[in-house]
Amino acid sequence: MKIMVVGGGGREHAIIKKIKENKDVTEVFALPGNGGIAADATCVPIKAVDVDSIVDFARDNAIDYAVVAPDDPLVLGCVDALEEAGVPCFGPRANAAIIEGSKVFSKHLMKKYGIPTAACEIFDDMDAALKYLETAPIPTVIKADGLALGKGVIIAQTRDEARDAVLAMMRDKTFGKSGERIVIEEFLTGPEVSVLSFTDGKTVVPMVSSMDHKRVGDNDTGLNTGGMGTVAPNPYYTEAVAAECMEKIFLPTVNAMNAEGRTFKGCLYFGLMLTADGPKVIEYNCRFGDPETQVVLPLLESDLLTVMKATTNGTLAETEVKFADKNACCVIMASGGYPSSYPKGFEITIPADIEDKVYVAGAELKDGKLVTSGGRVLGAVDIADTLGEAIDNAYALVDKISFEGAYFRHDIGRRAMAALEEN
Ligand code: AMP
Ligand code: GLY
Repeated sequence: MKIMVVGGGGREHAIIKKIKENKDVTEVFALPGNGGIAADATCVPIKAVDVDSIVDFARDNAIDYAVVAPDDPLVLGCVDALEEAGVPCFGPRANAAIIEGSKVFSKHLMKKYGIPTAACEIFDDMDAALKYLETAPIPTVIKADGLALGKGVIIAQTRDEARDAVLAMMRDKTFGKSGERIVIEEFLTGPEVSVLSFTDGKTVVPMVSSMDHKRVGDNDTGLNTGGMGTVAPNPYYTEAVAAECMEKIFLPTVNAMNAEGRTFKGCLYFGLMLTADGPKVIEYNCRFGDPETQVVLPLLESDLLTVMKATTNGTLAETEVKFADKNACCVIMASGGYPSSYPKGFEITIPADIEDKVYVAGAELKDGKLVTSGGRVLGAVDIADTLGEAIDNAYALVDKISFEGAYFRHDIGRRAMAALEEN
C-alpha cells in the first residue's frame, strides 16, 4: 500500500514512523517532509498548501491512502480535493476544518449547543471593540478569527495591552484577513490539557491526554511558541474529568458538527482548561497537535493506519484503539533565538542508536548532512513506566544530540511531576 503524508514537521515524522509499523505499507511519501523524515519516507518537494500539485501527485503515483496533517491545507479543502480525485483520506473536509479555521465559528457553535467555553464578545468593527474594552474585565484575551500561525491569541494584562492588540489586528492587519473579525474572551485559569481524539463523525475515541509547554522559557516565561515539549498522560486529566469531558464536550461537539451538516472525520483536538467551574474549551484544532503527537502516537498500541481508515470508513466503533499504560516525554530542541529570528544551517549530530527516538522538524539535508533549517529543530522522545523516568531519559537523549546554538527548556514535565506528587 502506498501512503502519502502531507506536511513536514515533527508531528508528521511521528505519524510516518507509526504508519510504517503496518506490514502492508510498501511506500510512504512525505509532501514536503524534511531532512530527518527523509530517513523514513520519500520526500517530495511539494508545499503542504499547494493543493493542486498534491492531488496531481496522488493521482500520478496511485496513492492508496493520504493523511493531511497541517491546519492550512485542511482549511483550504485538501481532503475535499483528494476525495474528489478518488483518494481516501485521513482528515476533515473544509466545511468541518472551519472548527479551527474560524474562532468566530467555533464560539458560535459552542454557544448554540451549550458546550462549556469562555464567555466572549465578537467584533468586526474596531471602534465597537475598543469601546467594549473600556469596561471589559481585565486580564482579557484577544483572538484573531482566522489561522495566524499559532500567534493570533493575545493575553492582555492591562487595558492598554488589550487596546494595542485590537489596533494591531484590526487597524494594522498584522494577521491579514485573519484579524478582520476578532473574539474578545473571558480570561480563564486552571491547568491546561490537550486531548486529541479520533472521530468518524459518530464515535469519538479520545487518545491519551497530554500537556504542552507553550512558552519559550523555563517556568513558563517568555514568548509563546508552537510548543517546547510535552508529556503524556496529563496527570490533571483524571478518569472523572475524562468522563465529564466526554459527556459535556466531546460528544456534544461531534453531534453539533453533524447537526450543522459539517460531519467531522479525522483527529479532533480539544484544548481544554480545567477551571474551578469544570472543564472548558480553550480551542479546537482540526488536526493532530505538534508536539503532542510525538508523545501520544508512540503510546498507541493499536495499528495507526487501521484506526485512521476506520475514521474514513465510519467503522471506528468496531475498531480497537488501545494505548500503553506508560508515560512519554518529548523535549524540543530549537534554534537559539526562536521564536524570534535565528540563524540556520548548523550541522546536527544524532547518534545512530537513538535515531528512532528523534522526531525531526526544522532540518534539511545539505551535501548529505542534516542541518538546521527551522525554529523547532527536533524532539527527543522517551517512553517509560513512570513519568520521572521518561523525563530523565528524554533529557539524556538531548545530551547526546548537538548543533550550534541548540536551545531547550530544562523543566518539561516538572509541573506534571508536581501534580502527581500532590495526589
Ligand atoms: P490558542 O492559540 O488558542 O491555543 O491559545 C494559546 C494559549 O493562550 C492557550 O494555550 C492558553 O494558554 C491561552 N488562552 C487562550 N484562551 C484563553 C482564555 N480564555 N483564558 C486564559 N488563557 C487562554
Ligand atoms: N501544540 C499545540 C498545537 O499543535 O496547536
